[in-house]
Amino acid sequence: MLRTGLLAAARSPRVRRVVETAAPTRPLVRRFVAGTDATAALAAARELRGKGVRVSLDHLGEHVTSAEHAGSAVSAYREVLSGLAAEGLADRAEVSVKLSALGQALPVDGEKIALEHARRICAAAAQAGTAVTLDMEDHTTVDSTLRVLAALRVDFPRTGAVLQAQLRRTEGDCRDLAREGSRVRLCKGAYAPPASVAFPRPSEVDRSFARCLGVLMAGSGYPMVASHDPWMVRLTGQLAARNGRGATEYEHQMLYGVRPDEQLRLAAEGRRVRVYVPYGQEWYGYFVRRLAERPANVAFFARSLLSRG
Ligand code: FDA
Repeated sequence: MLRTGLLAAARSPRVRRVVETAAPTRPLVRRFVAGTDATAALAAARELRGKGVRVSLDHLGEHVTSAEHAGSAVSAYREVLSGLAAEGLADRAEVSVKLSALGQALPVDGEKIALEHARRICAAAAQAGTAVTLDMEDHTTVDSTLRVLAALRVDFPRTGAVLQAQLRRTEGDCRDLAREGSRVRLCKGAYAPPASVAFPRPSEVDRSFARCLGVLMAGSGYPMVASHDPWMVRLTGQLAARNGRGATEYEHQMLYGVRPDEQLRLAAEGRRVRVYVPYGQEWYGYFVRRLAERPANVAFFARSLLSRG
């Protein structure tokens, strides 16, 4: 309920202006976002590598309204990918890409434009020695994103997908994608889809996550388990053991700034851990989704605004 309301309110340009310009926003943004440019992202990748943790770098930006703007996202990814290669970090780093930042929602030929841009990023990633994972956005984009994934995997078979356990369709999508060579990140879902397509209660989302994880772990793809939930972390270990998967045959993924001690604990246990590191100027949409995930974040942010206002 809180999440739906917050995500809806966040679409107001007035709310956006207040959040973007309020001084108390900065420290909280810094908790979740590595910085505003590729230099900051590469520094975070270096630091995490030193702690035995892999990264997926995400150049922030979504819902571009022109093909030209979408082209600039490609340049940003090329820059960070060549930085990863130059610093010898590409074996421990990949990039995450939102198709809406590449033009998917443009009214004419959006999907085609996004595919062409994504192809250029995949080519740059392959040249750097790494791969791309396509983030999943709101439920209306799932079919289009999976079509783009299938087209990209013809030339770039390591391209990964994200599936959201909150959607009723996802168990079936997991079955389709749990194939040899397929990299699938399973998450709960950060958007607020209607009950007609999604499980409304958190307990139902958790049960769906467990079923989906069961399918991915039993399949022959590479599961990337994106959750900070202690229950899901435990279940991942149990299902890996039950399916005879070694430590290199799946990975845990968590967000930059969320449960950092747990990230290090898992890495120290010998598990593969990857942290999703967002960077860039366009942090607003990402930041609001992180606030919406946890009432304590909203309360902390609101208190800071009131105490300084
Ligand atoms: P849950 O929300 O139940 O949180 C479990 C615990 O984790 C909380 O009790 C708290 O301790 C901690 N926690 C979680 N979120 C927090 C936050 N924001 N601040 C502070 N503590 C927090 N979604 C999507 O729709 N499309 C995508 O492509 C991706 N990609 C993605 C990549 C990676 C690597 C991760 C980890 C997550 C995503 N997500 C995503 C987001 C995901 O769908 C989900 O919204 C969050 O991961 C929160 O869900 P949890 O499974 O962590 O459980």
